[in-house]
Amino acid sequence: MTTTTAAQAAYVVASLLFILSLAGLSQHRTSRSGVVWGIAGMVIALAATIGLASRSITAAGLVLIAVATAVGAGIGLWRARVVEMTGMPELIAVMHSFVGLAAALVGWNGYLDVDAELTGSLLRIHHAEVFLGVFIGAVTFTGSVVAYLKLSARIKSRPLMLPGRHALNLGALAAFAVLTVAFVARPHMGLLIAVTVLALALGAHLVASIGGGDMPVVVSMLNSYSGWAAAASGFLLANNLLIVTGALVGSSGAYLSYIMCKAMNRSFLSVIAGGFGARTVTSGDAGDLGEHQEISAEDTAELLRDASSVIITPGYGMAVAQAQYPVAELARKLRDRGIEVRFGIHPVAGRLPGHMNVLLAEANVPYDIVLDMDEINDDFAATSVVLVIGANDTVNPAATDDPASPIAGMPVLHVWEAAHVVVFKRSMAAGYAGVQNPLFFRENSRMLFGDARQRVDAILSSLDATDAPAAAMVGTAN
Ligand code: TAP
Repeated sequence: MTTTTAAQAAYVVASLLFILSLAGLSQHRTSRSGVVWGIAGMVIALAATIGLASRSITAAGLVLIAVATAVGAGIGLWRARVVEMTGMPELIAVMHSFVGLAAALVGWNGYLDVDAELTGSLLRIHHAEVFLGVFIGAVTFTGSVVAYLKLSARIKSRPLMLPGRHALNLGALAAFAVLTVAFVARPHMGLLIAVTVLALALGAHLVASIGGGDMPVVVSMLNSYSGWAAAASGFLLANNLLIVTGALVGSSGAYLSYIMCKAMNRSFLSVIAGGFGARTVTSGDAGDLGEHQEISAEDTAELLRDASSVIITPGYGMAVAQAQYPVAELARKLRDRGIEVRFGIHPVAGRLPGHMNVLLAEANVPYDIVLDMDEINDDFAATSVVLVIGANDTVNPAATDDPASPIAGMPVLHVWEAAHVVVFKRSMAAGYAGVQNPLFFRENSRMLFGDARQRVDAILSSLDATDAPAAAMVGTAN
């Protein structure tokens, strides 16, 4: 078997492993094996690519590749080990930016180093691929950098509302089409520089003009862009595996964006057009919503003791506080007392798709009591107590009640329909979308201020304290 045939066979195996990986990652139970399939596919892909390249690369070149791979793998391992769960979206945004940058550089390389055998229409196709690769890569690069800055709160998550922003985006796309035709007809470095600058500006503007509430869609959309950028590089490098893998990432990212849009009742087109239809974000001021009422951990324990059913709706604050362990313990304790306990998960709670599910699985909460928003939303009205643990936007009634709200139309968990709602947070601050939450001022809502982990621990202690005398009395009676 020649090196090329062996490499192509290895590419087929790697592609299959990537498909298995995607399938595994689509369910909690199989997600770990999904990661293992992905790692195996990538190891085979790397080995086959280096083997293929070794035919035309000097020994010094191979050493350079080995050193670059070792350094890259070392940095990747280190970052993955130290990153907090709450920092994952930023890490992913940074990785997307690398894919975008790599695709843009591969495009530039394709222009500077053209295969002398390419002539006529093949050469024109090559130049179209160069232009497209640089464009998608550069849009992905700056878009991901701005997403990183927003997700890590280095810049405000509020949308940038430039006057005529839609005209700017459309103008940039029209300019790209004109430049592409000109470049394919007469390739010139000036045109490639122009499209690079245009795409860098467009990527930054597209993401800057998207509001905080729509960031989940942006993350999965950039995931999709990075896939298409990789596929474009695959065409330029004539690497089938890169084309297949890029298309897999591109299409699965696009599908995830579609699911997110559906979950948030947003139009897919409006989000990718950069905040099209985004309303002006209101401030986090309480306005005339009235007074909020507070509750202590002890009184919350009392409320829970008398409850027959409890729903816990976790959000980003649970991840920040790492409160999933005491929350899981609380759920166990209440269930032991015969109280029905379930978790209601909003599809964009936290900062990552499936963020809450991962945390609850980590704390060994049984899968069968963790329900999606659609499965549990009708049950709040018949529930005694809802514990809102560090969630805010995902339980905001303004989404359903206030058509002028920036999050209007986004489906939310109807927690306010329960008999009692206890909201765990540290202050009256607004959530990620920067929108004040009328839930906090409802008659049946109580605020339990402080770090969610400490508050849940305090409730557990309070429950234990009342259990102890009861157990002692049973002991004496016996
Ligand atoms: P958020 O609206 O982000 O609110 C989280 C709340 O947690 C805050 O109000 C904060 O209030 C509280 N909090 C923070 N640290 C805490 C701690 N240590 N203890 C107790 N509370 C704490 O949460 P959410 O309801 O999960 O909504 C998610 C938001 O993020 C949505 O707007 C969504 O669109 C966006 N987003 C989601 C994703 C994905 S894919 N899930 C990606 C990007 C953006 P205090 O500061 O007062 O404590």
